[in-house]
Amino acid sequence: MLVLGIESSCDETAAAVLAEGRRVLSSVVASQDAIHAPYGGVVPELASRRHLEVIVPVVQQALEDAAVRLPDLDGIAVTQGPGLVGSLLVGCAVAKSLAYVHRKPLVGVNHLEGHIYAAFLTDDPPAHPFLALVVSGGHTALYHARAPLAYALVGQTRDDAAGEAFDKVAKLLGLGFPGGPIIERTARTGDPKAITFPLAHMTDRAPDFSFSGVKTSVSLYVKRAAPLSAQQVADIAASFQAAIVKMLVRKTVKASLRLGVKRLVLTGGVAANGPLRAALAAAAAEHGLTLHVPPPRLCTDNAAMITAAGTDRLAAGERAALTLNALPDMALAV
Ligand code: KG4
Ligand code: ZN
Repeated sequence: MLVLGIESSCDETAAAVLAEGRRVLSSVVASQDAIHAPYGGVVPELASRRHLEVIVPVVQQALEDAAVRLPDLDGIAVTQGPGLVGSLLVGCAVAKSLAYVHRKPLVGVNHLEGHIYAAFLTDDPPAHPFLALVVSGGHTALYHARAPLAYALVGQTRDDAAGEAFDKVAKLLGLGFPGGPIIERTARTGDPKAITFPLAHMTDRAPDFSFSGVKTSVSLYVKRAAPLSAQQVADIAASFQAAIVKMLVRKTVKASLRLGVKRLVLTGGVAANGPLRAALAAAAAEHGLTLHVPPPRLCTDNAAMITAAGTDRLAAGERAALTLNALPDMALAV
């Protein structure tokens, strides 16, 4: 089964072709980082416009790299949500047009399910049931993947997403965009124990996350300590990163022990973070849990993960009508 997948939910325009939903024949990702960098965050209108410019060449490149022609395809998958509406609309319109003209089955994919499916594109895919920590620029949530295509929401952020916190703190420190990779690099020369940023505690003991408190403490600290030396910036980056990692690891391990789930998946853009990968691996080993983490290029937004999820949904008989619409708040589970 050959499927073309299209992803345009945020600021990456991506297309991929997969065989049987697991073999990546091509995966093209056109990043818009340079466009949004001057603003320190994604500017929705600029994102939509850039998607519109590059999406057809990106799809062409994915087909060419895979040596596949549109008539050869068995289906088309597209990210339907969640994400920026203007961005999603571009991918949906292109996917629908191709499906209509070439009479191909179409399926809408949840972007977060896509992130989880990145784990199935490795040599060591997880068996169900497993607990997935999806940490990205727009989302931070724990999903219990009980069986293929069946998810329950275990916990989520009550305010900012973890990636959003990385991006905002990087902006506060004048480091640039996107913040995650820059904070990680800056933190290497810093002391993670230099400053103790307070971790949020849920008074109702829910397995939810909260990152706005840490972000605010960093902001207050920066204001008090300004002007900052390079070493202070590195120490803040390292201490902030350590706080985020600690909260993510603590909540994830706790939830898996409570649910009795033995396997963990770590995915989403923030899962590219080295210290997070290492800390969750150590905690998992300590508690006898198996951890599956896709390589960084599959953790950040790409279309291979969308195509993998879409292929399984097409194989299960799912079909989207040509009236398919973008769902900016699309939920994966409740
Ligand atoms: O999954 P993703 O590519 O897009 C969304 O669906 O949001 O995630 C992007 C987020 C950004 O906030 C970025 O700063 C963060 O992932 N990120 C990282 C790293 N690489 C990307 N955060 C921490 N460390 C990284 N190495
Ligand atoms: Zn994403």
